[in-house]
Amino acid sequence: MNDRLQKNFDRSSLIAQTESFVRSSMPGDRGSHDWEHIRRVRDLSLKIAENEAADLFVVEMAALLHDIADHKFTGGDTDAGPKKAAEFMKKIGLEKDQIEHVVGIINDVSFKGAGVISSPSSVEGQIVQDADRLDAMGAIGIARAFSYGGYRNRSLYDPDEVIELHKSFESYQKSTSSTVAHFYEKLFLLKDRMNTDTGRAMAEKRHAYMTDFIEQFINEWHI
Ligand code: NI
Repeated sequence: MNDRLQKNFDRSSLIAQTESFVRSSMPGDRGSHDWEHIRRVRDLSLKIAENEAADLFVVEMAALLHDIADHKFTGGDTDAGPKKAAEFMKKIGLEKDQIEHVVGIINDVSFKGAGVISSPSSVEGQIVQDADRLDAMGAIGIARAFSYGGYRNRSLYDPDEVIELHKSFESYQKSTSSTVAHFYEKLFLLKDRMNTDTGRAMAEKRHAYMTDFIEQFINEWHI
């Protein structure tokens, strides 16, 4: 096999191994952060990457591993995910610089609160962050928000609550606000935080859909 074909073959085998590792590590019953979220983020990432000069292998690996041990489900341990991902990539034989790049992206992509800006330095990281944010928006974003709210035992909406824009990751983690408040604390902010032009264009549409939904929701609530 020539070098190029061999490299492609090796890469698709590494991707397949990563897929099955992630599938078996993800909790299956959480509608907001399950394998299907990972699959969508991977597909969105590759779609955005079509318009960017990016290393597609790094993009796909980072998308697959980005939630491997999400801080929302590990009791706030933000190091667990990157560590687990690094160990896995070492085991299947990725090169050191690739491992470092992917781990850097995993560290950068998660949302840490309204006032905490974290933008990845590499284009690959920017793509995966955009894809992860897009999956929190639009119709899917709405469904995921209420699913996660149920998991956290949050109320749907509280007309009396004060919306808090969290300035630190700690206060964002401790938030007990309703799911509707979560739109103001996080989901409505995402549109202006996209990194790529493709991501931004997709975010505009999904944002408009969410604002229509919340307007209708609040109108129905106060009938
Ligand atoms: Ni995610």
